[in-house]
Amino acid sequence: MEQERGRFITLEGVDGAGKSTQIPVIAEAIQQKGKNLVMTREPGGTELGEKIRSLLLNDPMSVKCEMLLMFASREQNLSEVIRPAVESGKWVLCDRFTDASYAYQCAGRMQPKEYVDTLVRFVHPDIEPDLTIIFDLNVEEASKRLGNNADRFESEEISFHKRVREEYLRLARENPNRYFVVDASQPIEVISELLRRKIASWD
Ligand code: TYD
Repeated sequence: MEQERGRFITLEGVDGAGKSTQIPVIAEAIQQKGKNLVMTREPGGTELGEKIRSLLLNDPMSVKCEMLLMFASREQNLSEVIRPAVESGKWVLCDRFTDASYAYQCAGRMQPKEYVDTLVRFVHPDIEPDLTIIFDLNVEEASKRLGNNADRFESEEISFHKRVREEYLRLARENPNRYFVVDASQPIEVISELLRRKIASWD
């Protein structure tokens, strides 16, 4: 019998929206459905990808270099982790994916969307997330939630993060079937419950 394909779920949002707090809640909700879960993140997710992540978060580089390294990390994650898992029926939960490249590298850094379109065609013409959960929060509120030791992205100015947020919301408006936008200004337990219900009823 042919193996049923798994699902590919991604998490997005501006820095400080509270994504990390809810990851264990989403993971548990997926396991409650009896699904075999694989968790990963971008940039990172593989041994090589985590090295690339450290460069991306800390080292000065050109905008195109940043874009290419995001996709280098993504390519490794796709071939080593994401595709094999989904093909063998597992559910993959990935903390950020290509939508972050549209939001941060294109909107945030004011680069043409076509650059990322081109890299998508090169790196993953075959796969896109089945569901993307966006943690939406106004950037003033989000920046208050960030601790010290800001990385290269977190330390960008407020207007950068506003463009990032607007791009996520635009993506969600363009393709409402794929996106689930969560108002991240609500209390943690309210958000957790929304997510549990969404995952329980979705496949
Ligand atoms: P994240 O893991 O959410 O940060 P943290 O561990 O601090 O919660 O994401 C790391 C940063 O990488 C985040 O600021 C967004 C950025 N990023 C991009 O700019 N482009 C991308 O394609 C991806 C995947 C992430």
